[in-house]
Amino acid sequence: MPPASKNLEALEAEAREAIAAAPTPAALTQVRARFLGRKGSVSEFLRGIGDLDAAERSNAGQAANAVKQRVEQWVAERRERLERSARRRSLEAHGVDVTLPGAIPPSGHLHPITHVTRHMVRFFTSLGFSVEEGPEVETDYYNFEALNIPSDHPARDEQDTFYVEGGNLLRTHTSNVQIRAMTGRTPPFRFIAPGRVYRHDLSPKHSPMFHQIEGFLVDERVSFGDLKGILYAFARHLMGDDVELRFRANHFPFTEPSAEMDVRSGGEWLEWGGCGMIHPAVLDRCGIDSDRYQGFAFGMGIDRTAMHRFGIPHLRLLFEGDVRVLEQI
Ligand code: DAH
Repeated sequence: MPPASKNLEALEAEAREAIAAAPTPAALTQVRARFLGRKGSVSEFLRGIGDLDAAERSNAGQAANAVKQRVEQWVAERRERLERSARRRSLEAHGVDVTLPGAIPPSGHLHPITHVTRHMVRFFTSLGFSVEEGPEVETDYYNFEALNIPSDHPARDEQDTFYVEGGNLLRTHTSNVQIRAMTGRTPPFRFIAPGRVYRHDLSPKHSPMFHQIEGFLVDERVSFGDLKGILYAFARHLMGDDVELRFRANHFPFTEPSAEMDVRSGGEWLEWGGCGMIHPAVLDRCGIDSDRYQGFAFGMGIDRTAMHRFGIPHLRLLFEGDVRVLEQI
């Protein structure tokens, strides 16, 4: 073997070792320059080939080019390997643990009052009731007078009723919808009317704004028994089969007879609302022939039903809009 080839072999072995030992891509770049750069030893060897005999020249040239290619390849392989392990190290240091549970974005939900209202309304619409709404700013006529509530009735007291400029008022109950819906309508009809009502009242169980749901039905041959039947079914829909209802004789100017109703499922009795047979004078005022038609009506607090159902101690917790509270309900 000619001395030149021997030299080349040694060079190749040296390059191979240096490449394998290069600890970083930067060091590898230097190693490559040492052998393949313009002043690198393999390049120098190639330049030296011109001095050889013609016979040796072609062999040595081919051998040197082959070495050059192999060295290039080892450098590329080593670079790839160094970069891969650098990537792995950096992933391990500040990488993503794909086995961690994901962050679930918070999702909204219905306000408890909306939830209970819809649940109540659904029961009545399934029985053929239509939803009717009335204004919250109301006239004395619809809120009081047409409901047979005389001007000396305590409900009209400024202590109870919010009056607004111009003699109107914030409705104190949803019973105003009875008058608005019945006037000019021919029975039979049945309506359910949920909404906001306002009273001058502030205590843990009361708030100046609260919600009621009113229901009324007018037809021929309607009895108090029909009313009780519907209310029992309604209470079962809301609170389950073991619910109890209690009717206490009472007086409302717009119903005759009238009763207050309490509801209980397991625990304490809850004052739920009022009900009765619509007073004939109210029907007449709405243009409905009270000799031919009868009707029943009822109205109850939505908020108390929700408080009862969700165990909420203070009515105002429902209205303060504190998401931390509402999310627990
Ligand atoms: N409007 C009454 C109130 O707010 C509740 C009520 C009682 C409604 C008897 C009715 C009823 O429809 O028949 O206290």
